Amino acid sequence: MAVINAKRKTGKISKYIYGQFAEHLGRCIYEGIYVEDDSIPNTNGMRNDVVAALRELEIPVLRWPGGCFADDYHWRDGIGDKDKRPYMVNTNWGGVVENNHFGTHEFFELCEQLSTEPYICGNVGSGTVQEMRDWIEYMTFDGDSPLANERRKNGREKPWKLKYFGVGNENWGCGGNMRPEYYSDLFRRYSVFIRNYGDEPIYKIAGGPNVDDTNWTEVLMKNIGGAMDALSLHNYSYEGDWNNKGDSVVFDKDGWYTNMASAMRMKRVIKAHRAVMDQYDPDNKIALIVDEWGNWYNVMPGTNPGFLYQQNTLRDAVSGMVILHIFHNNCERIHMANIAQMVNVLQSMVLTEGDKMVLTPTYYLFKMMKGHMDADRLDIDYDSKEYEVNGISVPKISMSASSKDDKITVSVCNTSVSEDEDIVLDIRDADITSASAQILTGEINAHNTFEAPDTIMPEELEVSVSNGKASFKLPAKSIAVITLS
Ligand code: AHR
Repeated sequence: MAVINAKRKTGKISKYIYGQFAEHLGRCIYEGIYVEDDSIPNTNGMRNDVVAALRELEIPVLRWPGGCFADDYHWRDGIGDKDKRPYMVNTNWGGVVENNHFGTHEFFELCEQLSTEPYICGNVGSGTVQEMRDWIEYMTFDGDSPLANERRKNGREKPWKLKYFGVGNENWGCGGNMRPEYYSDLFRRYSVFIRNYGDEPIYKIAGGPNVDDTNWTEVLMKNIGGAMDALSLHNYSYEGDWNNKGDSVVFDKDGWYTNMASAMRMKRVIKAHRAVMDQYDPDNKIALIVDEWGNWYNVMPGTNPGFLYQQNTLRDAVSGMVILHIFHNNCERIHMANIAQMVNVLQSMVLTEGDKMVLTPTYYLFKMMKGHMDADRLDIDYDSKEYEVNGISVPKISMSASSKDDKITVSVCNTSVSEDEDIVLDIRDADITSASAQILTGEINAHNTFEAPDTIMPEELEVSVSNGKASFKLPAKSIAVITLS
């Protein structure tokens, strides 16, 4: 039994928690989103099938161009006549040639087609302060300046709206192998030149810690707390560990449970960084932005190891919901999160092969969760059996409730592979008379392929409502979202 107090609103679940990330990595941008081959229907290069599918998710924000790629990216190479754009080698991801045909203008075109807000990550690792300042002026200045006029010459009269800007990526690693003291000084310097040309000030996101490196957080909070709006955090989950991440499709019930435990690590990691941030910023003015998260497995056999192409199963949807609930539970501090990555890379929403596209279980998770975006988190009280895997406690049932526009959304997942659960939602202080619900379930490794694209899809779940209570059976290994009014 779960008790939900409809009048006890305990925070706002920012819609930006449902953000996405698209890097110049493997077949994410090229092939997956952007094509130059007109045999695949597209609008200004953006695949119509992929854009139409992603629009259904109402993606609030999209991070680009990386990732590790961001600190190797020089924006000037990606503007102007495509035939004249210089080539480069994508040294981080497979050593393939990057022709820079997808650049700043193309990114904003994609954002416009998706009706999503841009989040651009700048180059600190190998770029100059001037390069970063000029990019901002090129994109956002409405007046008469050589850079703004160059943008006009390249086909864009009005400046774009840009709020979110990252000052480097993983600067402790691929973004420059820096110590936090050194990065703090660089942040101070670079951020001065991120000028506000538009109506809204640019929201500056500092390159944050790796997983549980709280020293990085401590040094940044101490040294640049007053200059940043947010600190980013990257934390991936696996089936095994970093050295052998497990297969995305071929796994047994142990592989299922170790992945659930890995997902639960997000709770511990966020708690550790929040504790440090709370000391320096008790009023939650500086946000924690988890701008890379998701399941990272071994690449699909036979694919380029640098392309990070993996399949996506029911397991990803279930552990994904566990993590989204952790974000909801920390919504005072977590303003944004960006799952890695949107297309064909890591835990993606869609997979493509030539002109074919399939929607993944994670796509359906995000589609089902839309009711929580920008909703008020509600107080929810429930008990769940817990089991221990690798010293980590994993709840059998994970739930979250929110309200918006006179509707209550409850999401719930059952992480057990064998035990169903009878759920009763006791909604206090609301007059609930009807419910609609969707469920996603199947075999533990159920997934969609180009040959069988509809193997796993949401179905209707029967929920009975009486006397302010909603009851239903939640099968083992499933996620469900219930809308009550
Ligand atoms: O998402 C893949 C990579 O993971 C990103 O480029 C990097 O930031 C992280 O290590």
